[in-house]
Amino acid sequence: MKKIACIILAAGRGVRMKSSTPKVLHRICGRPMLSFVIDTARALKIKKITVVAGDKQAEVKKLLKGESGVKCVVQKRLLGTADALKVALRTLGGSSGTILVLYGDIPLLKVKTLKGLLAGHAQNAADATILVARAEKPFGYGRIMRDNYSTVKQIVEEKDADDFQRDIKEINTGIICFDKRKLNQALKRVRRNKRNGEYYLTDCIGILHKKGALIESVRLRDRDEALGINSRADLARANSIMQRRINDGFMAKGVSIIDPRSTFIDYDVRIGGDSVIYPFTVIESNVKIGKRCHIGPFAHLRQKSVIGDDVVAGNFVELVRTKLSSKVLMKHFSYLGDARIEDGVNIGAGTVTANFDGKKKNLTRVKRDAFIGSDTVLVAPVEIGRGATTGAGSVVTKGKNVPDGKTVAGVPARPLK
Ligand code: UD1
Ligand code: CA
Repeated sequence: MKKIACIILAAGRGVRMKSSTPKVLHRICGRPMLSFVIDTARALKIKKITVVAGDKQAEVKKLLKGESGVKCVVQKRLLGTADALKVALRTLGGSSGTILVLYGDIPLLKVKTLKGLLAGHAQNAADATILVARAEKPFGYGRIMRDNYSTVKQIVEEKDADDFQRDIKEINTGIICFDKRKLNQALKRVRRNKRNGEYYLTDCIGILHKKGALIESVRLRDRDEALGINSRADLARANSIMQRRINDGFMAKGVSIIDPRSTFIDYDVRIGGDSVIYPFTVIESNVKIGKRCHIGPFAHLRQKSVIGDDVVAGNFVELVRTKLSSKVLMKHFSYLGDARIEDGVNIGAGTVTANFDGKKKNLTRVKRDAFIGSDTVLVAPVEIGRGATTGAGSVVTKGKNVPDGKTVAGVPARPLK
Protein backbone atom coordinates (compact mmCIF):
# COMPACT_ATOMS: atom_id res chain seq x y z
CA MET A 1 0.00 0.00 0.00
CA LYS A 2 1.08 3.58 -0.65
CA LYS A 3 2.33 5.78 2.16
CA ILE A 4 -0.54 7.51 3.90
CA ALA A 5 -0.37 10.86 5.65
CA CYS A 6 -3.25 12.38 7.50
CA ILE A 7 -4.12 16.07 7.66
CA ILE A 8 -6.60 17.22 10.27
CA LEU A 9 -8.20 20.59 9.56
CA ALA A 10 -8.81 22.42 12.79
CA ALA A 11 -8.18 26.09 12.13
CA GLY A 12 -11.73 27.34 11.72
CA ARG A 13 -13.27 29.93 14.01
CA GLY A 14 -16.28 27.93 15.09
CA VAL A 15 -18.35 31.12 15.32
CA ARG A 16 -21.60 29.29 16.04
CA MET A 17 -20.22 27.83 19.27
CA LYS A 18 -20.15 31.36 20.70
CA SER A 19 -17.21 30.40 22.85
CA SER A 20 -13.84 31.73 23.94
CA THR A 21 -12.50 28.15 23.75
CA PRO A 22 -11.38 26.94 20.31
CA LYS A 23 -14.11 24.71 18.87
CA VAL A 24 -11.94 21.62 18.52
CA LEU A 25 -11.04 21.73 22.23
CA HIS A 26 -14.64 21.47 23.40
CA ARG A 27 -15.08 18.18 25.20
CA ILE A 28 -17.14 15.12 24.39
CA CYS A 29 -17.48 12.73 27.32
CA GLY A 30 -14.62 14.53 29.01
CA ARG A 31 -12.19 14.48 26.09
CA PRO A 32 -11.36 17.29 23.62
CA MET A 33 -12.98 16.47 20.28
CA LEU A 34 -9.68 16.93 18.44
CA SER A 35 -8.16 14.13 20.55
CA PHE A 36 -10.79 11.71 19.29
CA VAL A 37 -9.83 12.54 15.70
CA ILE A 38 -6.14 12.05 16.48
CA ASP A 39 -6.91 8.70 18.15
CA THR A 40 -8.69 7.55 15.02
CA ALA A 41 -5.77 8.52 12.80
CA ARG A 42 -3.39 6.70 15.14
CA ALA A 43 -5.58 3.60 15.17
CA LEU A 44 -5.19 3.53 11.38
CA LYS A 45 -1.43 3.30 12.04
CA ILE A 46 -0.82 6.48 10.11
CA LYS A 47 2.61 7.78 11.05
CA LYS A 48 2.43 11.31 9.68
CA ILE A 49 -0.36 13.23 11.34
CA THR A 50 -0.53 16.98 10.81
CA VAL A 51 -3.01 19.26 12.50
CA VAL A 52 -3.75 22.64 10.94
CA ALA A 53 -4.45 25.15 13.70
CA GLY A 54 -5.39 28.78 13.26
CA ASP A 55 -7.98 30.32 15.49
CA LYS A 56 -6.60 30.49 19.07
CA GLN A 57 -3.74 28.30 17.93
CA ALA A 58 -1.78 28.62 21.18
CA GLU A 59 -4.39 26.57 23.04
CA VAL A 60 -4.55 23.94 20.33
CA LYS A 61 -0.74 23.69 20.37
CA LYS A 62 -0.82 23.16 24.10
CA LEU A 63 -3.07 20.13 23.71
CA LEU A 64 -0.85 18.77 20.94
CA LYS A 65 2.25 18.98 23.15
CA GLY A 66 0.96 15.89 24.91
CA GLU A 67 0.45 14.04 21.62
CA SER A 68 3.75 12.62 20.51
CA GLY A 69 4.36 12.42 16.79
CA VAL A 70 1.62 14.85 15.84
CA LYS A 71 2.82 17.90 13.96
CA CYS A 72 1.04 21.22 14.20
CA VAL A 73 1.12 23.81 11.42
CA VAL A 74 -0.52 27.20 11.57
CA GLN A 75 -2.79 28.65 8.93
CA LYS A 76 -2.20 32.36 9.43
CA ARG A 77 -5.24 33.66 7.57
CA LEU A 78 -8.33 31.52 7.49
CA LEU A 79 -8.84 31.46 3.76
CA GLY A 80 -10.79 28.23 3.56
CA THR A 81 -10.26 24.49 3.60
CA ALA A 82 -8.20 24.37 0.36
CA ASP A 83 -5.83 26.95 1.78
CA ALA A 84 -5.55 25.03 5.06
CA LEU A 85 -4.58 21.91 3.16
CA LYS A 86 -1.97 23.81 1.15
CA VAL A 87 -0.35 25.05 4.34
CA ALA A 88 -0.08 21.48 5.62
CA LEU A 89 1.16 20.02 2.34
CA ARG A 90 3.98 22.55 2.14
CA THR A 91 5.49 21.03 5.28
CA LEU A 92 5.14 17.40 4.18
CA GLY A 93 8.07 15.94 2.31
CA GLY A 94 7.73 13.66 -0.71
CA SER A 95 5.49 14.10 -3.70
CA SER A 96 3.63 10.80 -3.89
CA GLY A 97 1.38 8.83 -1.59
CA THR A 98 -2.10 9.17 -0.18
CA ILE A 99 -3.48 12.08 1.82
CA LEU A 100 -6.38 11.44 4.13
CA VAL A 101 -8.22 14.62 5.09
CA LEU A 102 -10.03 14.59 8.44
CA TYR A 103 -11.79 17.47 10.17
CA GLY A 104 -11.17 18.42 13.77
CA ASP A 105 -14.89 19.02 14.22
CA ILE A 106 -15.99 15.55 13.02
CA PRO A 107 -15.02 13.42 16.04
CA LEU A 108 -17.28 10.37 15.87
CA LEU A 109 -15.90 8.56 12.83
CA LYS A 110 -15.09 4.93 13.45
CA VAL A 111 -11.77 3.38 12.54
CA LYS A 112 -13.56 0.65 10.57
CA THR A 113 -15.23 3.24 8.36
CA LEU A 114 -11.96 4.94 7.50
CA LYS A 115 -10.28 1.59 6.89
CA GLY A 116 -13.04 0.89 4.36
CA LEU A 117 -12.49 4.26 2.73
CA LEU A 118 -8.72 3.77 2.43
CA ALA A 119 -9.13 0.20 1.18
CA GLY A 120 -11.63 1.33 -1.47
CA HIS A 121 -9.31 4.13 -2.53
CA ALA A 122 -6.39 1.72 -2.92
CA GLN A 123 -8.34 -1.03 -4.68
CA ASN A 124 -9.78 1.34 -7.25
CA ALA A 125 -6.44 3.09 -7.66
CA ALA A 126 -8.52 6.26 -7.46
CA ASP A 127 -7.24 9.83 -7.53
CA ALA A 128 -9.80 10.86 -4.95
CA THR A 129 -12.29 8.89 -2.85
CA ILE A 130 -15.03 10.72 -0.99
CA LEU A 131 -16.84 9.42 2.06
CA VAL A 132 -20.44 10.22 1.14
CA ALA A 133 -23.73 9.75 2.96
CA ARG A 134 -27.43 10.15 2.36
CA ALA A 135 -29.11 12.79 4.44
CA GLU A 136 -32.81 13.50 4.58
CA LYS A 137 -31.95 16.97 5.79
CA PRO A 138 -28.77 17.78 3.91
CA PHE A 139 -28.70 21.41 5.07
CA GLY A 140 -25.20 22.78 5.51
CA TYR A 141 -23.38 19.97 3.72
CA GLY A 142 -21.72 19.99 0.32
CA ARG A 143 -23.89 18.12 -2.24
CA ILE A 144 -22.53 15.38 -4.47
CA MET A 145 -23.16 15.92 -8.19
CA ARG A 146 -22.85 12.91 -10.47
CA ASP A 147 -22.59 12.68 -14.27
CA ASN A 148 -24.58 10.36 -16.57
CA TYR A 149 -22.29 7.47 -15.70
CA SER A 150 -22.99 8.20 -12.07
CA THR A 151 -19.38 9.14 -11.35
CA VAL A 152 -18.89 12.07 -9.03
CA LYS A 153 -18.20 15.18 -11.05
CA GLN A 154 -18.42 17.96 -8.53
CA ILE A 155 -19.24 18.98 -4.96
CA VAL A 156 -21.46 22.01 -4.60
CA GLU A 157 -21.50 23.87 -1.29
CA GLU A 158 -24.82 24.74 0.30
CA LYS A 159 -24.21 28.46 -0.09
CA ASP A 160 -23.57 28.15 -3.81
CA ALA A 161 -26.23 25.57 -4.64
CA ASP A 162 -29.26 26.35 -6.80
CA ASP A 163 -32.72 24.98 -5.96
CA PHE A 164 -32.16 21.79 -7.93
CA GLN A 165 -28.79 21.12 -6.29
CA ARG A 166 -30.12 21.87 -2.84
CA ASP A 167 -32.60 19.01 -3.28
CA ILE A 168 -29.78 16.49 -3.68
CA LYS A 169 -29.68 14.22 -0.64
CA GLU A 170 -26.24 12.78 -1.19
CA ILE A 171 -23.72 14.73 0.83
CA ASN A 172 -20.00 15.14 1.34
CA THR A 173 -19.15 14.08 4.89
CA GLY A 174 -15.98 16.15 4.51
CA ILE A 175 -13.70 13.13 4.67
CA ILE A 176 -11.81 12.59 1.43
CA CYS A 177 -8.62 10.77 0.52
CA PHE A 178 -6.51 11.97 -2.33
CA ASP A 179 -3.60 10.92 -4.42
CA LYS A 180 -1.07 13.46 -3.22
CA ARG A 181 0.30 14.39 -6.63
CA LYS A 182 -3.17 14.97 -8.07
CA LEU A 183 -4.21 16.91 -5.01
CA ASN A 184 -1.26 19.26 -5.35
CA GLN A 185 -2.10 19.86 -9.00
CA ALA A 186 -5.74 20.54 -8.24
CA LEU A 187 -5.05 22.85 -5.31
CA LYS A 188 -3.06 25.14 -7.60
CA ARG A 189 -6.16 25.63 -9.70
CA VAL A 190 -8.67 26.34 -6.96
CA ARG A 191 -10.02 29.88 -7.31
CA ARG A 192 -11.42 32.07 -4.58
CA ASN A 193 -15.13 31.65 -4.06
CA LYS A 194 -16.85 34.85 -5.17
CA ARG A 195 -19.41 34.82 -2.42
CA ASN A 196 -17.17 34.63 0.64
CA GLY A 197 -13.60 34.83 -0.63
CA GLU A 198 -12.67 31.34 0.60
CA TYR A 199 -10.74 28.64 -1.21
CA TYR A 200 -12.82 25.45 -1.07
CA LEU A 201 -11.12 22.10 -0.81
CA THR A 202 -14.22 20.60 -2.35
CA ASP A 203 -13.52 22.49 -5.61
CA CYS A 204 -10.63 20.06 -6.17
CA ILE A 205 -13.17 17.38 -7.06
CA GLY A 206 -14.63 19.32 -10.01
CA ILE A 207 -11.14 20.28 -11.15
CA LEU A 208 -9.90 16.68 -11.04
CA HIS A 209 -13.00 15.38 -12.81
CA LYS A 210 -12.50 17.81 -15.70
CA LYS A 211 -8.91 16.56 -16.02
CA GLY A 212 -10.21 13.01 -16.39
CA ALA A 213 -9.07 11.86 -12.96
CA LEU A 214 -10.74 8.91 -11.28
CA ILE A 215 -13.11 10.02 -8.52
CA GLU A 216 -14.69 7.33 -6.37
CA SER A 217 -16.98 7.37 -3.39
CA VAL A 218 -17.61 5.14 -0.40
CA ARG A 219 -20.99 5.25 1.28
CA LEU A 220 -21.22 5.80 5.03
CA ARG A 221 -24.17 3.85 6.45
CA ASP A 222 -24.40 5.32 9.92
CA ARG A 223 -24.69 9.05 9.43
CA ASP A 224 -24.12 9.76 13.12
CA GLU A 225 -20.46 9.06 12.54
CA ALA A 226 -20.12 12.06 10.27
CA LEU A 227 -21.83 14.49 12.61
CA GLY A 228 -20.00 17.80 12.30
CA ILE A 229 -19.94 19.93 15.44
CA ASN A 230 -20.85 23.50 14.65
CA SER A 231 -23.02 24.50 17.59
CA ARG A 232 -23.64 23.64 21.23
CA ALA A 233 -26.66 21.63 20.14
CA ASP A 234 -24.42 19.51 17.87
CA LEU A 235 -22.02 19.11 20.78
CA ALA A 236 -24.80 17.75 22.99
CA ARG A 237 -25.82 15.29 20.26
CA ALA A 238 -22.26 14.11 19.81
CA ASN A 239 -21.98 13.68 23.55
CA SER A 240 -25.01 11.45 23.72
CA ILE A 241 -23.86 9.34 20.75
CA MET A 242 -20.43 8.90 22.35
CA GLN A 243 -22.05 8.16 25.71
CA ARG A 244 -24.08 5.40 24.14
CA ARG A 245 -20.93 3.89 22.66
CA ILE A 246 -19.09 4.05 25.99
CA ASN A 247 -21.99 2.52 27.93
CA ASP A 248 -22.50 -0.20 25.33
CA GLY A 249 -18.79 -0.99 25.64
CA PHE A 250 -19.07 -1.47 29.40
CA MET A 251 -22.17 -3.63 29.13
CA ALA A 252 -20.42 -5.81 26.55
CA LYS A 253 -17.64 -6.34 29.10
CA GLY A 254 -19.96 -7.47 31.87
CA VAL A 255 -20.84 -4.27 33.69
CA SER A 256 -24.54 -3.72 34.46
CA ILE A 257 -25.90 -0.27 33.72
CA ILE A 258 -29.47 -0.11 34.91
CA ASP A 259 -30.43 2.88 32.77
CA PRO A 260 -27.81 3.82 30.16
CA ARG A 261 -29.66 7.00 29.28
CA SER A 262 -29.22 8.47 32.72
CA THR A 263 -25.68 7.23 33.29
CA PHE A 264 -22.83 9.53 32.33
CA ILE A 265 -19.44 7.89 32.11
CA ASP A 266 -16.55 9.82 30.61
CA TYR A 267 -13.90 8.57 28.26
CA ASP A 268 -11.03 6.64 29.91
CA VAL A 269 -12.87 5.15 32.90
CA ARG A 270 -12.26 1.58 34.05
CA ILE A 271 -14.96 -0.57 35.62
CA GLY A 272 -14.54 -4.23 36.62
CA GLY A 273 -16.92 -7.06 35.76
CA ASP A 274 -20.20 -7.59 37.63
CA SER A 275 -20.26 -4.06 38.93
CA VAL A 276 -23.66 -2.38 38.80
CA ILE A 277 -24.13 1.28 37.99
CA TYR A 278 -27.46 2.70 39.12
CA PRO A 279 -29.20 5.65 37.43
CA PHE A 280 -28.18 9.30 37.58
CA THR A 281 -24.55 8.54 38.15
CA VAL A 282 -21.73 10.68 36.78
CA ILE A 283 -18.26 9.17 36.49
CA GLU A 284 -15.45 11.42 35.27
CA SER A 285 -12.36 10.63 33.21
CA ASN A 286 -9.64 8.40 34.69
CA VAL A 287 -11.75 7.05 37.54
CA LYS A 288 -11.12 3.36 38.21
CA ILE A 289 -13.67 1.01 39.74
CA GLY A 290 -13.07 -2.62 40.67
CA LYS A 291 -15.21 -5.74 40.36
CA ARG A 292 -18.63 -6.36 41.93
CA CYS A 293 -19.13 -2.77 43.07
CA HIS A 294 -22.46 -1.02 43.44
CA ILE A 295 -22.37 2.62 42.41
CA GLY A 296 -25.24 5.08 42.75
CA PRO A 297 -28.01 5.98 42.28
CA PHE A 298 -27.02 9.67 42.19
CA ALA A 299 -23.30 9.16 42.69
CA HIS A 300 -20.68 11.59 41.43
CA LEU A 301 -17.24 10.07 41.09
CA ARG A 302 -14.79 12.76 40.19
CA GLN A 303 -11.20 12.89 38.95
CA LYS A 304 -8.47 10.71 40.42
CA SER A 305 -10.79 8.49 42.38
CA VAL A 306 -9.94 4.82 42.62
CA ILE A 307 -12.29 2.16 43.99
CA GLY A 308 -11.35 -1.43 44.83
CA ASP A 309 -13.49 -4.59 44.57
CA ASP A 310 -16.83 -5.19 46.34
CA VAL A 311 -17.34 -1.56 47.28
CA VAL A 312 -20.71 0.12 47.74
CA ALA A 313 -20.74 3.85 46.95
CA GLY A 314 -24.45 4.41 47.08
CA ASN A 315 -27.00 7.19 47.13
CA PHE A 316 -25.75 10.78 46.83
CA VAL A 317 -22.10 9.97 47.23
CA GLU A 318 -19.40 12.30 45.96
CA LEU A 319 -15.73 11.37 45.71
CA VAL A 320 -12.79 13.38 44.48
CA ARG A 321 -9.09 12.38 44.52
CA THR A 322 -10.10 9.61 46.88
CA LYS A 323 -9.20 5.97 47.19
CA LEU A 324 -11.67 3.44 48.55
CA SER A 325 -10.00 0.06 49.04
CA SER A 326 -11.91 -3.19 48.75
CA LYS A 327 -15.07 -3.89 50.73
CA VAL A 328 -15.61 -0.30 51.80
CA LEU A 329 -19.25 0.47 52.49
CA MET A 330 -20.38 4.02 51.91
CA LYS A 331 -24.05 3.70 51.36
CA HIS A 332 -25.68 7.07 51.89
CA PHE A 333 -25.06 10.77 51.17
CA SER A 334 -21.44 11.48 51.86
CA TYR A 335 -18.55 13.58 50.58
CA LEU A 336 -14.97 12.38 50.59
CA GLY A 337 -12.22 14.55 49.11
CA ASP A 338 -8.48 13.69 49.22
CA ALA A 339 -9.14 10.64 51.36
CA ARG A 340 -7.46 7.23 51.60
CA ILE A 341 -9.89 4.67 52.94
CA GLU A 342 -8.51 1.20 53.65
CA ASP A 343 -10.18 -2.21 53.34
CA GLY A 344 -13.41 -2.98 55.12
CA VAL A 345 -14.09 0.53 56.42
CA ASN A 346 -17.69 1.58 57.03
CA ILE A 347 -18.44 5.19 56.17
CA GLY A 348 -21.64 6.16 57.94
CA ALA A 349 -24.42 8.19 56.36
CA GLY A 350 -23.60 11.87 56.10
CA THR A 351 -19.83 11.54 56.61
CA VAL A 352 -17.93 14.53 55.31
CA THR A 353 -14.23 15.25 54.92
CA ALA A 354 -13.41 18.90 55.51
CA ASN A 355 -10.46 18.65 53.13
CA PHE A 356 -10.04 22.32 52.25
CA ASP A 357 -8.79 24.73 54.90
CA GLY A 358 -9.21 27.81 52.72
CA LYS A 359 -5.66 27.60 51.39
CA LYS A 360 -4.91 24.02 50.51
CA LYS A 361 -6.39 20.55 50.27
CA ASN A 362 -5.44 18.16 53.07
CA LEU A 363 -5.42 14.40 53.35
CA THR A 364 -7.69 12.17 55.43
CA ARG A 365 -6.64 8.63 56.16
CA VAL A 366 -8.92 5.94 57.55
CA LYS A 367 -7.24 2.63 58.32
CA ARG A 368 -8.58 -0.92 57.95
CA ASP A 369 -11.90 -1.89 59.42
CA ALA A 370 -12.52 1.46 61.09
CA PHE A 371 -16.13 2.42 61.70
CA ILE A 372 -17.05 6.03 60.93
CA GLY A 373 -20.35 6.84 62.63
CA SER A 374 -23.15 8.69 60.90
CA ASP A 375 -22.70 12.40 60.38
CA THR A 376 -19.00 12.45 61.27
CA VAL A 377 -16.93 15.39 60.08
CA LEU A 378 -13.27 14.59 59.52
CA VAL A 379 -11.27 17.80 59.51
CA ALA A 380 -8.13 17.13 57.48
CA PRO A 381 -5.30 16.47 57.86
CA VAL A 382 -6.36 13.68 60.18
CA GLU A 383 -6.00 9.92 60.58
CA ILE A 384 -8.38 7.33 62.01
CA GLY A 385 -6.62 4.20 63.27
CA ARG A 386 -7.20 0.57 62.46
CA GLY A 387 -10.51 -0.70 63.83
CA ALA A 388 -11.21 2.69 65.50
CA THR A 389 -14.73 4.12 65.84
CA THR A 390 -16.19 7.62 65.68
CA GLY A 391 -19.55 8.25 67.32
CA ALA A 392 -22.53 9.63 65.47
CA GLY A 393 -22.29 13.38 64.98
CA SER A 394 -18.66 13.66 66.03
CA VAL A 395 -16.25 16.23 64.63
CA VAL A 396 -12.72 14.90 64.55
CA THR A 397 -10.55 18.00 64.44
CA LYS A 398 -7.36 18.63 62.53
CA GLY A 399 -4.41 16.55 63.62
CA LYS A 400 -6.33 14.84 66.44
CA ASN A 401 -5.52 11.39 65.12
CA VAL A 402 -7.51 8.52 66.58
CA PRO A 403 -5.29 5.58 67.68
CA ASP A 404 -5.96 2.00 66.53
CA GLY A 405 -8.99 0.41 68.18
CA LYS A 406 -10.05 3.55 70.09
CA THR A 407 -13.48 5.22 70.07
CA VAL A 408 -14.02 8.98 69.95
CA ALA A 409 -17.24 10.99 70.11
CA GLY A 410 -18.59 14.52 70.47
CA VAL A 411 -17.75 18.00 69.21
CA PRO A 412 -14.82 18.18 69.17
CA ALA A 413 -14.35 14.42 69.34
CA ARG A 414 -12.73 13.04 72.52
CA PRO A 415 -11.81 9.50 73.52
CA LEU A 416 -14.54 7.57 75.30
CA LYS A 417 -13.63 6.02 78.61
C1 UD1 B 1 -17.23 21.44 4.95
C2 UD1 B 1 -17.21 21.06 3.45
C3 UD1 B 1 -18.59 20.47 3.06
C4 UD1 B 1 -18.92 19.28 3.95
C5 UD1 B 1 -18.83 19.69 5.43
C6 UD1 B 1 -18.96 18.46 6.32
C7 UD1 B 1 -15.70 22.64 2.35
C8 UD1 B 1 -15.58 23.85 1.53
N1 UD1 B 1 -16.93 22.23 2.64
O1 UD1 B 1 -18.18 22.50 5.13
O2 UD1 B 1 -18.57 20.06 1.71
O3 UD1 B 1 -20.20 18.79 3.64
O4 UD1 B 1 -17.57 20.29 5.74
O5 UD1 B 1 -19.01 18.82 7.68
O6 UD1 B 1 -14.69 22.07 2.73
N2 UD1 B 1 -10.98 24.98 8.44
C9 UD1 B 1 -9.67 25.33 8.42
N3 UD1 B 1 -9.29 26.48 7.79
C10 UD1 B 1 -10.18 27.31 7.18
C11 UD1 B 1 -11.54 26.94 7.20
C12 UD1 B 1 -11.91 25.75 7.84
O7 UD1 B 1 -8.82 24.61 8.97
O8 UD1 B 1 -9.75 28.36 6.65
C13 UD1 B 1 -11.38 23.72 9.12
C14 UD1 B 1 -12.38 23.91 10.23
O9 UD1 B 1 -11.74 24.05 11.48
C15 UD1 B 1 -13.18 22.61 10.19
C16 UD1 B 1 -13.07 22.17 8.74
O10 UD1 B 1 -11.99 22.87 8.18
O11 UD1 B 1 -12.63 21.62 11.01
C17 UD1 B 1 -14.35 22.43 7.95
O12 UD1 B 1 -14.61 23.81 7.92
P1 UD1 B 1 -16.09 24.37 8.06
O13 UD1 B 1 -16.04 25.85 7.88
O14 UD1 B 1 -16.73 23.86 9.28
O15 UD1 B 1 -16.75 23.74 6.74
P2 UD1 B 1 -18.27 23.39 6.48
O16 UD1 B 1 -19.03 24.62 6.13
O17 UD1 B 1 -18.77 22.57 7.61
CA1 CA C 1 -18.13 22.06 9.85
